[in-house]
Amino acid sequence: MGTIEQGASGLQFCEPSIFDRGTPGRTGVSLPPLDVPSVDVGAALGPLSRVQLAQLPEVSEPEAFRHFVRLSQWNFCIDSQFYPLGSCTMKYNPKVNEWAARLPGMANIHPLMDDSLVQGALQLMVELAELLAEIAGMDGVSLQPAAGAQGELTGLMMMRAYHVAQGRSPKKVFIPDSAHGTNPASCALNGFETVAFETRDGRVDPTVLDSALAAAGDDVAGLMITNPNTVGLYETAMPQICAMIHERGGLVYGDGANMNAVLGRARPGDVGVDVMQYNLHKTFTTPHGGGGPGSGPVAFKAKLAPFQPTPVPVRDGDKYRLDYDRPQSIGRVRSFVGNFGMMVRAYTYIRELGHEGLKAVTDMAVLNANYLAARLQAEFPLAFNHAVMHEAVFTDKALESETGVKTLDVAKRLIDYGYHPPTVYFPLVVRGAMMIEPTETETKETIDEFVEAMIRIKREAQESPEVVKQAPHKTRIKRLDEARAARKPRLRWTAEAADES
Ligand SMILES: Cc1ncc(COP(=O)(O)O)c(C=O)c1O
Repeated sequence: MGTIEQGASGLQFCEPSIFDRGTPGRTGVSLPPLDVPSVDVGAALGPLSRVQLAQLPEVSEPEAFRHFVRLSQWNFCIDSQFYPLGSCTMKYNPKVNEWAARLPGMANIHPLMDDSLVQGALQLMVELAELLAEIAGMDGVSLQPAAGAQGELTGLMMMRAYHVAQGRSPKKVFIPDSAHGTNPASCALNGFETVAFETRDGRVDPTVLDSALAAAGDDVAGLMITNPNTVGLYETAMPQICAMIHERGGLVYGDGANMNAVLGRARPGDVGVDVMQYNLHKTFTTPHGGGGPGSGPVAFKAKLAPFQPTPVPVRDGDKYRLDYDRPQSIGRVRSFVGNFGMMVRAYTYIRELGHEGLKAVTDMAVLNANYLAARLQAEFPLAFNHAVMHEAVFTDKALESETGVKTLDVAKRLIDYGYHPPTVYFPLVVRGAMMIEPTETETKETIDEFVEAMIRIKREAQESPEVVKQAPHKTRIKRLDEARAARKPRLRWTAEAADES
């Protein structure tokens, strides 16, 4: 039986920085006797040797162990609770992926081993690239980029190299106003000029795009478009939009961060997208968050293949190897071949589910988001009144004018109920946006409990708004001064700063 209040106060431990633990001379390791000739480090390193010893913590093994376990207990994680962070697709990561990634033949290989010794790993990469190409309706995939944003950067570098090979250097890339911030950032890093244009009722309107394009003449490098987009809607005019860009010599970049809403049901390549990135850490259940390793493979049409990063894992008869001989390549974008462990997990996920399973993922993700939207919209108005894909975006407009309670307050109060807050204030085109993505891995009961918590918070906002405005109440640390934390972050421990505090 479910309960609305999933959060409870419990015993957690205070934990100082590890530098504040221990005592000089204490150690947690016992090293074996030296079995190689000893070296005078000072003489060997000369002027490079340290003047002063590194001020490392000197702690016992239990102290070190407890320190990190305690810190881990402060974490909120997908393995303990529903994590409805919109756009980020925080879905449960099946443990079979972890089993595969930890197989000694996967985990213990070194990226510098000769191709002949890592045939299985190369085969996995070649097959994963083929699977991802098929899912996207593309001709090839580079697995190298280490994140969605790096995939964007790579795809745009390939677009630029393509234009240069055609003897052109157009500069303008068109981006709708609802786009993720990484889209214009990737353009800027590539020396492109971003031209933002307005969306209408949550979607790209071809007539608006047409006037923006007309003003650019023949300086159209391309379009970046997210589909399903960042307000959770499918861009229904894709074929027309792509044709408009192609007619002007541009290329269409598809941001594939939301592919979990179309797997097995629609393929970007079929509607005119030329190049796109996947976010394996969203769509294909590889772990993410906390700055962990991501993976942003880039899928492309054949005309862009010569420009993909090297080395390219290839099949050669019944053998596999890394191919470096690609004269038009943009070069390497990541050390070695990319985040191999993530490739193993994504490959396992795709092979485990197969075609029908991937379709079921999408169907359930879309069903869950629409169910959540239908249950909540009477209390929290939707930003756009359309059926949604993978996520639903609500606005706090009515709530704030009625009660003074804002999106941020609702997000903080959700923590007291035991939920991770949804994505807030993104995209910017929606006032007080609350972007909620249930994902396909959640049950109806979980969604119902979450909805009940949201409704309870709405009642609190109406009856005792201060309770919501001062939330969270159950956490170790109360509401933070987020502006100060952003403007004056203290990111590094120093003995002087520790003494001051
Ligand atoms: C639509 C969209 N594009 C790009 C990205 C960037 O992906 P990453 O965080 O892997 O760099 C995100 C991340 O949330 C996203 O939602």
